[in-house]
Formats: sequence, C-alpha cells, structure tokens
Amino acid sequence: MSEPLRIAIVGCGGMGGGHAIAIASGSGNAEWNSNDVASQRIGAQDTDISKKLVLAGTYDIAEERQEWARERGYHTYGSFEEILADETVDAVLIATPNHLHHDEAIAAMRAGKDVLCEKPVMITSEELLDVLAVAKETGKVFYPRQNRRWDKDYRIIKKIYDEKLVGDVFNVECKIMGSRGIPGDWRGVKAYGGGMMLDWGVHIIDRLLIMVPEKVKRVFCSCTHVTNKECDDGFKLHLTFESGLTAVLEVGTCHFVPSPIWTIYGNYGSARVDNWECEGVMMRLTDWSDKDTKPILAGAGLTKTMAPRLENSVDELSLPEVEFDNNELYSNFVDTCRGEAEQIVTGEQAVRVLRLMEAAFASDAAGKIVEFE
Ligand SMILES: NC(=O)c1ccc[n+]([C@@H]2O[C@H](COP(=O)([O-])OP(=O)(O)OC[C@H]3O[C@@H](n4cnc5c(N)ncnc54)[C@H](O)[C@@H]3O)[C@@H](O)[C@H]2O)c1
Repeated sequence: MSEPLRIAIVGCGGMGGGHAIAIASGSGNAEWNSNDVASQRIGAQDTDISKKLVLAGTYDIAEERQEWARERGYHTYGSFEEILADETVDAVLIATPNHLHHDEAIAAMRAGKDVLCEKPVMITSEELLDVLAVAKETGKVFYPRQNRRWDKDYRIIKKIYDEKLVGDVFNVECKIMGSRGIPGDWRGVKAYGGGMMLDWGVHIIDRLLIMVPEKVKRVFCSCTHVTNKECDDGFKLHLTFESGLTAVLEVGTCHFVPSPIWTIYGNYGSARVDNWECEGVMMRLTDWSDKDTKPILAGAGLTKTMAPRLENSVDELSLPEVEFDNNELYSNFVDTCRGEAEQIVTGEQAVRVLRLMEAAFASDAAGKIVEFE
C-alpha cells in the first residue's frame, strides 16, 4: 500500500479545525469542538483514513487558531507560503472564507500540490473555470468538497427516488431551517462570499442535481433578507426538470417551528424525513381504486377530494435503511491524487451548481422565471 498523503490545512477555524481533528484522529469525524478523539468511532463500513491521510500541519491568520492547533499537538506553519514551500506536503485543504479559495487554489496547484477545497469552491462559475484550467495545465487534482452527498437524510431520499419506493417521483422538497439569523461572521458580507445560497444552497442543489439525472429547464427563486440586508439569509428556489419533475429547495434562518427536512412525492406514495436523526415515515398506496369516498367536514366546508385515505388502502412504513462509507470523500480524494480513481465530486459538477445559483440570483433580481439548460 502507498504511503499516506500528507495534507496541510489553510484556514483552521470551524471547518478547518474540524478537518484537523478528523484527519489527525483518523476517524474522519469533524466534530471540531470535541476534544474526546478517542470516542470518535469509525463505522464498519467507513474507510480508516489514518491509512490514507496524514495531517502535515495547519495555518491560520488568527493567532488564537494557531494556538488552538498547537494545544492539540498539530504542527503549525507560519504562513500559507511556508506550506507551499514544504516539499513534504502533497496536498492542501482550503478552509478559509469563500473569497480566498480562488487565489489559494491556484497558488497551491502551481506549487505542485493537489487541492481539496471547501464549498462553495468559488464565488462564481467563472472563477471556477479559471481554477479548473490551472488544474488541467498543472496536472494537479482540484477536488470540491461537496460533502453533503454523504448525509444520511439525503441517502434515504436518494434510495427512495432511485428504487421508486413511492413510485415515479413528481415533486421533491428540501427545507433547511434555522432560527439564529445569518451568522455574524464573514457569511454576512457579500465580498467574502456570504449569504445562505452560497453557504447551504451549494449543498442542497448539488445533492438534487446528482439525484435527478435530467436537465433543469426552469429556475425561479426569491431570496429573503430578514436579518441581513446585504446577503440573502435564506431563499426559496423552484426548479422544473425536463420530465416535469419539480423541486422546491428552501433555506431559512428565521424559522422557529420545525419543518421536515425532506418530503418526496411519487404516484404511489410519499415520504418524509423529519430531522437530522432521520425520523420520518413512508406511506405507500396499496390500491388506487379507493378514489371516491364520502365528504368530510374540513374547516367551514365539505371536501371529498381531501378526505383521508381508508387505512387498508395505504401502508405506513419505516424509512429505508442505508449504509455507506462516511469517509468516502476523503478516501476518493486520496485515490484520485494517486491516479487510482476518478473524482466522485468533479469540477464540472461544481460548475453546474454555481451556474444554477447564478440563475437563481438572476431570477430573484428580475422577479422572473429563468430558462436554464
Ligand atoms: N462542507 C461543509 O459542510 C462546511 C461547513 C462549514 C464551513 N464550510 C466552508 O469552510 C470554509 C470555512 O468556513 P468556517 O465555517 O470554518 O469559517 P471560520 O470563520 O470558522 O474559519 C475560517 C478561518 O480562516 C481563517 N483565515 C481568514 N483569512 C485567512 C488567510 N488569509 N489565511 C489563513 N487563514 C485565514 C480565519 O482566521 C478563520 O479561522 C468556508 O468556505 C465554508 O463555506 C464547509
């Protein structure tokens, strides 16, 4: 087996600190504020990344984050340039605020390092095309860390979609809702790549585009500015795919009652994932013939159409079980750098996500539907 890849982290804040713990502990678990590394377990299905990745060190512009790393026994570099000059470093993990990714990625590849870059990899698709051109020219790997494809809630929904567990899907809704407003750090400043579209939008768009292998025909989006005027603190994005399948993706930071994370609707059932613990339900029709029933009283009127189904015409089922390698992204990054695998998350996929976000912003600005692909 080859020697583990030596990786250095630039930007050792919330996420970079998480990566440092995940890599140094070998667990892949990025619970950054947990000091109890020993309690971080690797599941039976997870790659042991201690055999593939070694933490060469970290660099952060803030002295308190340098101190944080030193306290944990990590080597700290004095500057980003010092990382680039270290010939023992094979790869750089970029976890700085979004506006810095472009220049850092290019500098790292030109210095002969492969790059694992936090999402959103760039602020615009044009910046990303620049970076991908440098990856091609230098022969280095540029790997977008669009890691929420490995979230359990998404894997459950993808399984329901792929295996048609509720029939042919005609609508999917994903809602990521918090109540703390937009964070008070760089995420609230446009020039730093702030806003919830770039923050959470990138994840939920990426996952949907991977799940539904079709062209997106139409995009309609409204952004919210409840707690921040400069950057979107949430959005509601409507997509229509080529087949007519619709999706509604919503992010909010001023929501005080829980909403399900996912709801998926097919012609033979519906399913819901309620929370990060992946509680939820799948209802599956056994008999379409039970269409007509007596009207029920609904509010001030009668309805037959919306009357509940008879119990024996629908099955209430648990959500399907899913098993996957939680460390697959780290592992695939290393294999790709070694020339032993293709990238699971590609630069081209990241370009498509950024273009879709640009279409969403254009729709929001114009108040109109934007034709996409
Ligand atoms: N994939 C995910 O699930 C996920 C989750 C959180 C954050 N992120 C991404 O990670 C990146 C960092 O986000 P965060 O939440 O850790 O932010 P953060 O503010 O907690 O950390 C950023 C760190 O970068 C440091 N920094 C700023 N300028 C620097 C420079 N020139 N050189 C070196 N260090 C510098 C800051 O001091 C800070 O410690 C962002 O791109 C963000 O979108 C990804």
